[in-house]
Amino acid sequence: MKVVSASAAVRHLLDTGAVRPGDTLLDSSSGIYAYALALACHRHGMRCHIVGSTTVDHTLRTQLAVLGATLEQMEPCSDLKLDQKRRVARIQEILTEHPDYHWMRQYHDDIHYLGYRDVAERVRQETGDVPLTVVGGVGSGASTGALARRLREDGHGVELVGVQPYGSVTFGSEHVADPDIIIAGIGSSIPFANVDHGLYDTVHWLAFEAALAGSVDLLRRHAVFAGLSTGAGYLAARWEREHDPARTVVFLAADTGHRYVDTVFARHREAARVEDLAPRTVSAPAELALPWCRMSWDRAPAPASAVASAGSEASVGSEASVAGGVRGAVTGPPHPAGR
Ligand SMILES: Cc1ncc(COP(=O)(O)O)c(C=O)c1O
Repeated sequence: MKVVSASAAVRHLLDTGAVRPGDTLLDSSSGIYAYALALACHRHGMRCHIVGSTTVDHTLRTQLAVLGATLEQMEPCSDLKLDQKRRVARIQEILTEHPDYHWMRQYHDDIHYLGYRDVAERVRQETGDVPLTVVGGVGSGASTGALARRLREDGHGVELVGVQPYGSVTFGSEHVADPDIIIAGIGSSIPFANVDHGLYDTVHWLAFEAALAGSVDLLRRHAVFAGLSTGAGYLAARWEREHDPARTVVFLAADTGHRYVDTVFARHREAARVEDLAPRTVSAPAELALPWCRMSWDRAPAPASAVASAGSEASVGSEASVAGGVRGAVTGPPHPAGR
């Protein structure tokens, strides 16, 4: 998914003269953005330097090496917040040493919205003039936000449903920890400027066990082998469709299932039947509880804890819960009731 975003972002930087061919693009990442940026750099003749999370695996290291990207990987660390802090600090050091490097800031620079416009065109072509509901995991917020913005330009009553993990500041679930594995790619422990809260009509929060059931069912029922954020999005999409059958529901599948073979698919016997799962409806983040909740967000602004302020740590590009595989690493102070 991130390839369309990174590629259009790099193209835009070149077209506007912000960078020149051969320059070095830099960002911190734990996963698919690093690969996407490396592909985009390779395609557009740029150098790519990644400050990688401790969770960057052998497959990704190999892909980056083939593409000529350089990777600095953080020391093994089970605390994702510490891992993130170290990456943020390292980015600052690198920028001091190499002021000519361009820092991509995928969580904060809205050039990452650009690439999804073509995807939105295609969705519109394939679905026609029906009322659409778009469902997708929210990490940086660029994919769901860009699709909704573009599709709403045609004015067909597009609804946007964001999918979140527990323990994320983005929509105020930081006070509820998921005791299991973090769902890679969605949520955050710091504010991201690229999330435009006012675009979302509804938010679903799903725990690992529910997302696992979704991923397993998606493979069995639809032959789609996708990751945990997709499994979570699929459950939310099923629920939205069942409760408003007049609408066409489109959901985003960000990554494939390969990196979840052991942690998710090998545990398929533990998966609940998706028919037996349903969200609890809540009216404020303070009421959130595991394993699945749904709330009308009604295009409300960001909760206080998710407001990105210029110059704060939040303006530093990095991801938090985006790193998968560590138990209960994202915790935080209780979120005030309401929003
Ligand atoms: C697996 C996965 N799902 C969902 C997302 C969320 O996408 P976005 O950053 O566009 O909100 C990401 C982003 O990195 C991801 O890696």
